[in-house]
Amino acid sequence: MTKRPYVIVNVAQSLNGFISGKDGRRVIISSPEDMVRVHELRSEVDAILIGSGTVIADDPRLLVDQNAVKKEKFPVRIILDRSLRTGIGSRVYDSAARTIIYTAKVREDNRECEIRTRDLKGLQLENILSELQEEGISKLLVEGGRSIITSFIEERFIDQFHLYIGDIIIEGGGFQLFSPGFEIRNVIKSAEPFGKGVLISLDPYHLQRLWKTQVKDS
Ligand SMILES: NC(=O)c1ccc[n+]([C@@H]2O[C@H](COP(=O)([O-])OP(=O)(O)OC[C@H]3O[C@@H](n4cnc5c(N)ncnc54)[C@H](OP(=O)(O)O)[C@@H]3O)[C@@H](O)[C@H]2O)c1
Repeated sequence: MTKRPYVIVNVAQSLNGFISGKDGRRVIISSPEDMVRVHELRSEVDAILIGSGTVIADDPRLLVDQNAVKKEKFPVRIILDRSLRTGIGSRVYDSAARTIIYTAKVREDNRECEIRTRDLKGLQLENILSELQEEGISKLLVEGGRSIITSFIEERFIDQFHLYIGDIIIEGGGFQLFSPGFEIRNVIKSAEPFGKGVLISLDPYHLQRLWKTQVKDS
């Protein structure tokens, strides 16, 4: 593909494999130590990207803790929201940092952010990433949720993949990160105890290659 930012994925999963509670409800999976790591990661990137599902379910602000701040400005917040279904009052639209929404809709409200209306082609990840790269975003952190991360895997756009397994079993959990419909093995690069959980680094290139091959074959 044309040039794109270096892409890091970070996601937290429960011991029984869920990234959310029942019906997608937000559950805190990361330990305090892991939250520090996440904020350090945020402080090293130019932008953080999430999908509309995560804005609606979690209402995150995607800022960086004062202790972790390394750059003058907070990373740009990028929201992929084709149908502009996220609420105007979502915390990610506050004025604490710049926010860009990619959508197919024409702006009809006055939320404090930049709305980029694009056609189907313009909303393809490849084109969004290339546009962001051209604007100087060279390191991008993807923080979810499941659909967005799956799209990044399918398109093979991930360069680093951090998966934190928290010390929690979520009863009647909602979303599972991985449910490809086929078996995948040997994708763990390293795993270390981290706080009360385990931090896993996946080999994204191997994972994405296997994923693509399996999708093609199935
Ligand atoms: N544990 C964690 O680390 C973590 C992190 C984040 C989220 N979560 C959980 O994940 C759940 C949300 O996951 P989700 O899958 O519903 O939401 P998501 O991946 O955040 O957003 C999905 C939505 O993004 C939009 N979208 C735009 N472009 C897309 C593309 N190229 N590929 C895929 N989607 C695209 C689609 O909606 P439109 O068609 O309307 O645009 C899609 O429905 C929540 O329960 C949340 O709590 C957990």
